[in-house]
Amino acid sequence: MPAKFNIFVTRQIPLPGLEILRRDAGGFEINDDDHPLTQIELKAKVKDRDALVCVLTDIIDAEVLDAAGTRLKVVANVAVGYNNIDIKAATSRGIIVTNTPGVLTNATADLAWALLLASARRLNESERVLRAGLWPGWGILQFLGQDISGKTLGIVGAGRIGQAVAKRAQGFDMQILYTSRGAKAEMEALGAKHVDLETCLKQSDFISLHVPLTPETKHLIGKPELELMKPSAHLINTARGPIVDEAALAQALKARTIAGAALDVYEEEPKIHPGLLELENVVLAPHIGSATTETRGRMASMAAENCIAVLQGRKAPNAVN
Ligand code: NAP
Ligand code: GLV
Repeated sequence: MPAKFNIFVTRQIPLPGLEILRRDAGGFEINDDDHPLTQIELKAKVKDRDALVCVLTDIIDAEVLDAAGTRLKVVANVAVGYNNIDIKAATSRGIIVTNTPGVLTNATADLAWALLLASARRLNESERVLRAGLWPGWGILQFLGQDISGKTLGIVGAGRIGQAVAKRAQGFDMQILYTSRGAKAEMEALGAKHVDLETCLKQSDFISLHVPLTPETKHLIGKPELELMKPSAHLINTARGPIVDEAALAQALKARTIAGAALDVYEEEPKIHPGLLELENVVLAPHIGSATTETRGRMASMAAENCIAVLQGRKAPNAVN
């Protein structure tokens, strides 16, 4: 069947998404070798497309949108976060932008908890010792971490993922504090207390970040905020790297003004601040929040369905503009 639409898929995405595009659009062009496209490559590849299916490594700015030309109707991001796309520029050109909310909430909340547990119990640090052949055998004073049960969890950004992280804390009998721009019925139902950021940082033992990256949330956690945290506290970031000032975090971890951190996201991915790499008290994951086979499959399907809806003149289920 000849392609009905001219669609470009910027990286490899799971098969369920590609199958929808094949079935409903008759085909697509894809960046087969999956390398992250440079801005120059992206601008060349988007020319005359009706739709882009893209991922969070693609910077879709005004220049890329202009390079696409006037046919472009939809940019379907295979991610819930869409800070990689200039929404204002897309809107002013009449282009719909879509994301993949909800389907990755549980997977990302699970990962936040995996990081929290790993940081509290020094899991990665102790495994490194073992793998290096340096473990002398069991010792009662070795690798002492911190209890989680009965402690206070601070959620910064109480949306879908923040709420799912809070829900899991109930199994650990934790007190829950949360910050958000307004009180949330779902959080109150969990017994969580709405507080300002300062209180959340001062009183929590574990702080988990779940705000989107916006101009307001860039470096939301910097030196002054880290100074508010308890020396025994841990910071977990599965949201976006630039929400935390990495240089300030590396300093705080080195000086042990906070006990630990666990990160899935970084300011300049795939670069990691060298100050973080040399520390034992930080757990580092390579942006795998939603990385399960089932979840990534659902994200790809959702993006493809959004893309097809716009191309067929229907309302996109997950438009953000
Ligand atoms: P969401 O449901 O939109 O939740 C975000 C929450 O942040 C909303 O409740 C929003 O408040 C709040 N917020 C926005 N700006 C704020 C501010 N300046 N101060 C305080 N709260 C603010 O989004 P989600 O599905 O939970 O996803 C959250 C983020 O996680 C995504 O944007 C993405 O960057 C990240 N993420 C990362 C991974 C990963 O692989 N590591 C996976 C999935 C998502 P209102 O309710 O008042 O609007
Ligand atoms: C992943 O980081 C997402 O925003 O979906």
